[in-house]
Amino acid sequence: MHPPFETAPATAAIQIVFATRTTWPDIAKDLPEAARQFAAANDFAGKPGKCLTLPAPDGKIAQVLFGIEDEGAKHRDLFRPGALPGLLPPGVYRFANAPHDLRLATLAFALGTYRFRRYRKDEQPDVRLVPSDGVDIADISRMAEAAALARDLINTPSNDMGPGELAQAAQQLADRFGASFSTIVGDDLVKQNFPLIHAVGMASTRAPRLIDFSWGDPAHPKVTLVGKGVCFDTGGLDLKPSSGMLIMKKDMGGAANVLALAQMVMDAKLKVRLRVLIPAVENAVAGNAFRPLDIFKSRKGPTVEIGNTDAEGRLVLADALALADEEKPDLLVDMGTLTGAARVALGPDLPPFYTNDETLAGSVAAHAQRENDPLWRLPLWPPYDSWLDSKVADINNAPSGGFAGSITCALFLQRFVTDATSWLHVDIYGWTPSAKPARPEGGECQAARAIYKLLSERYA
Ligand code: BES
Ligand code: MN
Ligand code: ZN
Repeated sequence: MHPPFETAPATAAIQIVFATRTTWPDIAKDLPEAARQFAAANDFAGKPGKCLTLPAPDGKIAQVLFGIEDEGAKHRDLFRPGALPGLLPPGVYRFANAPHDLRLATLAFALGTYRFRRYRKDEQPDVRLVPSDGVDIADISRMAEAAALARDLINTPSNDMGPGELAQAAQQLADRFGASFSTIVGDDLVKQNFPLIHAVGMASTRAPRLIDFSWGDPAHPKVTLVGKGVCFDTGGLDLKPSSGMLIMKKDMGGAANVLALAQMVMDAKLKVRLRVLIPAVENAVAGNAFRPLDIFKSRKGPTVEIGNTDAEGRLVLADALALADEEKPDLLVDMGTLTGAARVALGPDLPPFYTNDETLAGSVAAHAQRENDPLWRLPLWPPYDSWLDSKVADINNAPSGGFAGSITCALFLQRFVTDATSWLHVDIYGWTPSAKPARPEGGECQAARAIYKLLSERYA
C-alpha cells in the first residue's frame, strides 16, 4: 500500500467532513454549539478549498472541515482533496462523508503527499489516510506509486539523470517484474541501424542509447510503449534561449510516463505482451553535434533533412517507432514532451493526443475524463502532411512557419508507423508549472493513468 494509506491506525482517525456552500448549513446544524461558533468565527461556509480544524474541549483536533464545490458547479475540481496533505497537521485521518468522487479524492490525497526529496529530506507531510470502505486501495496505491516514479524521474536534474541513469531506472523496473532488458549504446546504434537516435545523442559525453524491455506472455496482445527520453534539451546548435532551456531536464517526461505506465501494467498483471522502448539521449552542443541541413537516412528508410536541431524528440522517436512497428503490435503508444506548440494550443494541463483509430480515440477521451487525467484529441490533419516536404530529402523535421506545430510533429511521427494495428501519440508537457491540489509544482504524471485504465478495461 502507498505510504499515506493506513488501514490499522493505532489511534482513532480524525474525521474530515466535506462541505459545500449548500450542504454546510445542514452540517453545521449537527455540530456541537461551540464547534458551530468556532466555524462561524473563522468564517467557514464551505467555500471550495477552505480548510478548518475544529478543536475538541481538551485542545486536540475534534474534526476537520473542508470546502468543495457544489454538486452543480460549473467546474468541480475532483482532485481538490489533494490539497489536504499540505494543509493538515500531522496525524491519521479518514473521510467522514463522500466527496464528489470518493475514488479520485482518495487518489488525490495520495498524490498530494508527494514531495521531491532527493536533495532535501524535509517537508514530507506526515499525514495518513484510512481509506473509506469500498475503494480499491490496491489500485489507487498502484497509480499513486507510478505517479511518484514519473515525478521523481522528471524532477531529478540532468546531472543525475542522463541516458545512463535513465537506463538504470528502466532496468530496475524491468528486474522488479522479471522483464527481459537490453540496451543498444553509442556507436552500436549506428551498427544496428538507429541513425537518428545516434545523430541526436552523439554530441554528448553521455552516450545515447535505446532502452528495450519486454514482459508478459508472448501469446497475449502486443502493446508497445515508446517514450521520448531526451535527458536534457539544449536545442542543439539551434540553441534554445535560456528561458526555454530552464525546464528542459523534464524532456525525458515521455520516458518517465511510459515507465510509470509500464509499472502499473506489470503490477496489475494485465494480459498483454508489453514492450517498452526508450530512446535516451542528451541533445547537447559540441563540435560533433548534428547540424541544421544535415541529412540522415532513418531506420525505416526515408531520408530526413534537419530543419532545426531543436526538433530532436521526433527524430529519436522516429527510429524507436520504426523498430516498434516492425513486429506489428496490436497497440502502439508513444509519449513525449515534443512541442511548445501543444502548450500554446492547450496549455500545460491538457495534453493533445492523436490517433486515427476512432474507437481508441473515444476510449482515451472517456478514460482521461474518468481518471481526471485530462487529454484532448487533435487531428492528424492530412492536408498539412505536405508541409513536411524537403527540397532535397524525403522529409524535413521542422517545417518553417511553425503553424500547427504539434500536429505537424504528429504527422512526422505518423510517417514511421505503417504496420501497427493501432497507434496513439500523446504530446505531453510532463510538468506542473504552479502547484494545484494533488499536483505539486514540478514533474507530472500525464496520460499514464488514463491509458493504464484503458488497458485494464481491454486486457484485465
Ligand atoms: N522539448 C521541446 C518541446 C518543448 C518545449 C516542450 C517547451 C515543452 C516546453 C522540443 O524538443 C522542441 O524544442 N520542439 C520545438 C520544435 C520546433 C523546433 C519545430 C518547439 O516546440 O519549439
Ligand atoms: Mn528540442
Ligand atoms: Zn525536446
